[in-house]
Amino acid sequence: MLHPIVTSEFVNARQRLILSPTAEGCPLVGRVRIPGDKSISHRALMLGALAEGETTIEGLLLGEDPRSTAACFRALGAEISELNTDRVTVRGIGIGNLQEPIGVLDAGNSGTTLRLMLGILASHPDRFFTITGDDSLRSRPMGRVVKPLTTMGAQIWGRRDNTLAPLAVRGQALQPIHYQSPIASAQVKSCILLAGLMTEGQTTVSEPALSRDHSERMLRAFGAEVIVDPDTISATVVGPAKLHGQRVIVPGDISSAAFWLVAAAIVPGSDLTIENVGINPTRTGILDVLHQMGANITLENERDAAGEPVADLRVRYGPLNGCEISGALIPRLVDEIPILAVAATVAQGKTVIRDAEELRVKESDRLAVMAAALQKMGAQVTEQPDGLEITGPVQLRGADVDSHTDHRIAMSLAIAALVAQGTTTIDRAEAAAISYPDFVPTLERLTQG
Ligand code: S3P
Repeated sequence: MLHPIVTSEFVNARQRLILSPTAEGCPLVGRVRIPGDKSISHRALMLGALAEGETTIEGLLLGEDPRSTAACFRALGAEISELNTDRVTVRGIGIGNLQEPIGVLDAGNSGTTLRLMLGILASHPDRFFTITGDDSLRSRPMGRVVKPLTTMGAQIWGRRDNTLAPLAVRGQALQPIHYQSPIASAQVKSCILLAGLMTEGQTTVSEPALSRDHSERMLRAFGAEVIVDPDTISATVVGPAKLHGQRVIVPGDISSAAFWLVAAAIVPGSDLTIENVGINPTRTGILDVLHQMGANITLENERDAAGEPVADLRVRYGPLNGCEISGALIPRLVDEIPILAVAATVAQGKTVIRDAEELRVKESDRLAVMAAALQKMGAQVTEQPDGLEITGPVQLRGADVDSHTDHRIAMSLAIAALVAQGTTTIDRAEAAAISYPDFVPTLERLTQG
């Protein structure tokens, strides 16, 4: 009988994931379907709530983050059916018609929920809103959206000079701006564009490098006028806009596929096909980097799903080389850096990750947390102010590590454990449910041969 390599214990909703790979290894073979894209799921719920008429969403991510968005928009007056992957129905209330909730809106762990919603709330006059989140979210910087919204005339209050949640918002009629964002952030861009929906005139955001463009695509599909200028890396929304309910098909999340891409690339004997993965070019930096590292990945069955490109990705084990990850590539793989750091530990040579200081203000300080955990597992990692330097290959060894309640850290360390010698325990692994509720059962299935 095969020795089970994945076990877990729950104590007071806190999950300890225990991974002990067998000496023969545990190749990942066959096919896997991943959950819906988190970014697209949030936007489908939000635009559906702001639209007139009915929106249907197929393939919605049932993770904790979209659940937070759904709960907030229900409190704001949208009728959202029970969440399931097959079909969610949103009966929109129309732009301008948000209700003032009597309670505090809770964005949970979700930066996307809080930042995007802030643009919507700030532009709804004569209503007062309060918003909070969990411990992690209450420590994350909100000044990056509060500042441009304030320039548009928004009234927002919060701790530390109005930059930390809980936040209070008194909705206003706003003025359009042309905002030059100092960071390539889709959350900042989307917040301002959403505020522009209610604002008379053209609201433009330029960014130093292109971030994910799901908002631009979906706003257009819902009927808003959106102008994109690749030369200035800017997006403009023309307000006031009217949105009309749509059918949205959410592709699988490439950020979730990333764990299986790296797992199959580094575990000897693997040959895995990941089905229905969104391959929007603003998100495929992970594929570019893994190809550059020498990974054997092929795109099959390329198609379009309601305005977003999709493919099945087949990945086979093979040796990897180190590489440099920096500049305009960073926003195209910003959520994949923890798992790429795992790949780098077993790659031949040095991997240098630069220009990635944004990772310090994600759900955890992902540079510090990954460096510490991988060092504990025996990797050669040096932390830099804006990145990591990793020299490989090393034989990782099992260790006791902690997710720091960050979903992507929990899952990245679980993949590292597959190539480690000995047992790894990951504390607070329940965090994976933020973006991938079935991660552990899927890991169990794929490693059982
Ligand atoms: C997201 C944008 C990214 C990403 C996050 C989701 C989005 O954040 O890290 O997981 O849906 O817009 P930033 O825009 O802050 O880089």
